[in-house]
Amino acid sequence: MSESDINEVYRINKSSFTTDAWSRDAIEREFKLPYSVRFVLESDGKVIGYCVIWLIKGEAFIMSIAIDKNLRGRGLGRYFMEKIIDDLRNRAQTFLLDVRKSNLPAIRLYRSLGFSIVKERKKFYSDGENALLMELRIDRIKENEDKGKTAEAFN
Ligand SMILES: CC(C)(COP(=O)(O)OP(=O)(O)OC[C@H]1O[C@@H](n2cnc3c(N)ncnc32)[C@H](O)[C@@H]1OP(=O)(O)O)[C@@H](O)C(=O)NCCC(=O)NCCS
Repeated sequence: MSESDINEVYRINKSSFTTDAWSRDAIEREFKLPYSVRFVLESDGKVIGYCVIWLIKGEAFIMSIAIDKNLRGRGLGRYFMEKIIDDLRNRAQTFLLDVRKSNLPAIRLYRSLGFSIVKERKKFYSDGENALLMELRIDRIKENEDKGKTAEAFN
């Protein structure tokens, strides 16, 4: 993500989150935080998704991720997250995120990537909804990949 992407990131964020959407200032502030890692997903030079992560001491906390409303359900969210996890896997041992308990599309996506629920955070959002804290441990992915390689070797 570069500063020239801020308008598009703002637009996608605003149309994705009815409460707790980010202001332009909040997005601009991310560029000044040393632990903030920012990605955009582009198609034909146009921003169609973004993700902001706080990477602190080997923990990658996904602060916000969204795909353009008109382009959801086509595998882009999964592709984007897989790329991000791959990109950060040497710098982060764990990925964490909070998700609204009612956000089933996102929860299904995270589960299918190997995230598990750590705990429920009561009244986490400003409208009183609970959050699920979810976690993905990179050593678990590596274990599964190694098991896959061992299985291949025997086939
Ligand atoms: C969550 C989000 C990023 C997923 O992106 P996407 O491009 O729509 O997701 P994909 O098409 O890659 O789908 C990946 C998986 O997510 C789940 N999923 C996606 N849309 C779904 C839906 N409408 N209902 C149920 N599950 C859904 C499925 O498990 C799907 O895998 P499958 O197609 O193999 O079943 C997108 O829905 C989004 O931007 N939502 C609004 C912002 C948001 O809620 N962000 C997360 C906050 S924690």
